[in-house]
Amino acid sequence: MLDLPQAEEVMKGVQAELHDCAFPLLDEVTYSSSLATAFKDADYCFLIGAKPRTKGMERADLLKDNGKIFIDTGKAINDHAKRTVKTIVVGNPANTNCLIASHYAKDLPKENFTAMTRLDHNRALTQLALKTGSRVTDIKQLCVWGNHSPTMYPDIRNATVKGKGATGLVDKKWINDEFTPRVQQRGAEIINLRKLSSAASAGSAAIDHMRDWVLGSNEWQSISFYSDGKTYGIPEGLIFSMPVTTKNGKYEVVKGLNLDDEDSKMRIKKTVDELLGERQAVEHLLK
Ligand code: LMR
Repeated sequence: MLDLPQAEEVMKGVQAELHDCAFPLLDEVTYSSSLATAFKDADYCFLIGAKPRTKGMERADLLKDNGKIFIDTGKAINDHAKRTVKTIVVGNPANTNCLIASHYAKDLPKENFTAMTRLDHNRALTQLALKTGSRVTDIKQLCVWGNHSPTMYPDIRNATVKGKGATGLVDKKWINDEFTPRVQQRGAEIINLRKLSSAASAGSAAIDHMRDWVLGSNEWQSISFYSDGKTYGIPEGLIFSMPVTTKNGKYEVVKGLNLDDEDSKMRIKKTVDELLGERQAVEHLLK
């Protein structure tokens, strides 16, 4: 665990709670306010630390404050973690924070750095399951494209529910007027209800993300990762969510999907443009 020096007492409390869980696989819990100590030989890093969004704020408002945190984090992971380290960025704006961290982890492969859109994926699964009276495990091939923000594109065009095409089970109006905006705005909805940002669902999604990355899964997952500029026409260097499957500790994009219909083109462009704008806003940090 890593946090600011003033949070040592709190980390001690979290350590105590973890001990009290009696997890059979937990050998040791250490905490520190030193980046070097916290990231030493790390295999898996969950970067949840960032100033949280509060009511009325958009992710863009966070760019300035949180971007800087990820410079030092990226450098520390570069200098102290294992060369095979797997990193998930949860703190918002997650995609651009991830871009900054990976930029400063100069000696590590870009694919070691990801941002979380699994929470959006899970939200989309549940909304579709509720609508179709099914279970989340009945749903396959759903995905979320783009930024973890209200421009994300939750895509059920290829999804099946108990083997049947999802788009044949729900109408377009529901997809456009209810499903899509609900998933896109779910973070804000939770903040309105809890007066706090999502916590348990975000933690659970982060575990889903890392578990499937490490252990593999043939199910489609949504992971935001570094675009090589050759996949689905997404500009090089953006941290962009796409459908992937995972095997042997690696994720691989689901290929051959059609993004040529007008609606998809418009939605992809919107989220690409937003990420380009975010990147521009932190350009001075990417020297
Ligand atoms: C979420 O989607 O719940 C989180 O990213 C919270 C937030 O700050 O939007």
